[in-house]
Amino acid sequence: KDPLRARLQQMEQQAEQGGGTERIAKQHEAGKLTARERIDLLLDPGSFSELDKFVTHRSHDFGMGDKKILGDGVVTGYGTVEGRQVFVFAQDFTVFGGSLSGAYAQKICKIMDLATRVGAPVIGLNDSGGARIQEGVESLAGYADIFLRNTLASGVVPQISLILGPCAGGAVYSPAITDFIMMVKDTSYMFITGPDVIKTVTHEEVSKEALGGALTHNQKSGVAHFAAENEQAAIAMTRELLSYLPSNNQEDPPVQPNDDDAFRTEESLKTIVPANPNKPYDIKEIVRAIVDQKHFFEVQEHFARNIVVGFARMNGRSVGIVANQPAVLAGCLDIDASVKAARFVRFCDCFNIPLLTLVDVPGFLPGTDQEWGGIITHGAKLLYAYAEATVPKITLITRKAYGGAYDVMASKHIRADINYAYPTAEIAVMGPEGAVNIIFRGELQKAQDANAERKKLTDDYREKFANPFKAAELGYIDEVIRPEETRAKVIRALEMLKDKRQENPPRKHGNIPL
Ligand code: COA
Repeated sequence: KDPLRARLQQMEQQAEQGGGTERIAKQHEAGKLTARERIDLLLDPGSFSELDKFVTHRSHDFGMGDKKILGDGVVTGYGTVEGRQVFVFAQDFTVFGGSLSGAYAQKICKIMDLATRVGAPVIGLNDSGGARIQEGVESLAGYADIFLRNTLASGVVPQISLILGPCAGGAVYSPAITDFIMMVKDTSYMFITGPDVIKTVTHEEVSKEALGGALTHNQKSGVAHFAAENEQAAIAMTRELLSYLPSNNQEDPPVQPNDDDAFRTEESLKTIVPANPNKPYDIKEIVRAIVDQKHFFEVQEHFARNIVVGFARMNGRSVGIVANQPAVLAGCLDIDASVKAARFVRFCDCFNIPLLTLVDVPGFLPGTDQEWGGIITHGAKLLYAYAEATVPKITLITRKAYGGAYDVMASKHIRADINYAYPTAEIAVMGPEGAVNIIFRGELQKAQDANAERKKLTDDYREKFANPFKAAELGYIDEVIRPEETRAKVIRALEMLKDKRQENPPRKHGNIPL
């Protein structure tokens, strides 16, 4: 037998063993899959081409000279998802705790460079103890090399991070720059400094899970976009997410065959918005009623629930949906909702995904928390994001569109292409009660029966302003539509806009209020 072929085979087998059977068993015991098992689940069967399988680290300090493992703790390469090219790196916790060496970082950089050159998404499967302590600054340099590439690839190719184990210290900043972060409940965590350091510095006692687990980052901090029950679910969600996205910023999102009637009327929409303007309803009922197969792929479902964002298809085309949620905080915009929606709008704009905005917003949330927290700056992010976006923008006001929030939520004035309103829409500087108290303060003080007078003035105001007809008269609303025809109307507008091209003035980049 050819000795070189035998050697190749032996090296391949060795690389595939990673940290060895014992550590693989430990990984499984911890409820985690190995790097290679994850890649197998993510990619189409048999499509994976591995690169740099025999790379080893270059360190000699602390006895590392004789501890070399082929592949050095990260599996990298390319393959397909539903037949479409993607690049992937999977950190292997069984090898030096998945910690990152200079050579390991170079492997990741190599596939990131290829991905940007050919225009395909990068998916990172993270499970690592962080910078390889024995390598010192070489490892830190490796992180910075990756962060730079994350930044340069941002808006060029989609980047998705799955957190499938520890991700701590500087390591968090690569996922943070990517477009989406998925976390797995109970087995993944992200933090800058762990519980021990926190205890020393601030005397707080906190567990890893509470500090930076999947639910913490999905509900509290907003750092993560998805929380999965297990790794299989996280990987399945990643595959679905990719189905809505183009491979790069030069392409349009893939169009899928659709057998849901594009022009079906949806009778349920006649009654979803309650007649009483102060009664809440679930905006997701409207979303589901109008999209293909009633299937809505929500992003950041657990964070800032007063705004809903996510992907769906309409007649086979991807749309990014942003919707105020009257069922939570009456749909008010606050700091978290503004930041959540702004980032989503900018993602869609980067990747040519049309935006459908459903508006039912009584305004920005009042309070010192919000003002001192900088709602002015954060609210401006959403306004800025909508204003600069050049993808097709379709807006539907279902009910309230009050004050500055009317302008922000993809109004005609910031270049929405088509603006619809239901007959139930109320477009005004503020709600009738508040408005009457301010503009008729004198009259109300003088009135013999203040309550009767207030009711009369409020009814009068409502009659004048709490409807879409003034805005329609001015052309700010293109069409007042019947709710049951929403799907057909939006799909017609999307088809009309499919070749939309719009440019912003040339500049290095804008200065979004951060
Ligand atoms: N550099 C070098 N080796 C590392 C490492 C790192 N950053 N992180 C983990 N390892 C090694 C461990 O030494 C251990 O090796 P051994 O089995 O040969 O003794 C192996 O990886 C597994 O780690 P272990 O600590 O046994 O796993 P765990 O599941 O109990 O804990 C961590 C995981 C990540 C919490 C823990 O390893 C840790 O705190 N690592 C350091 C994190 C850090 O501060 N990194 C620098 C910040 S950028």
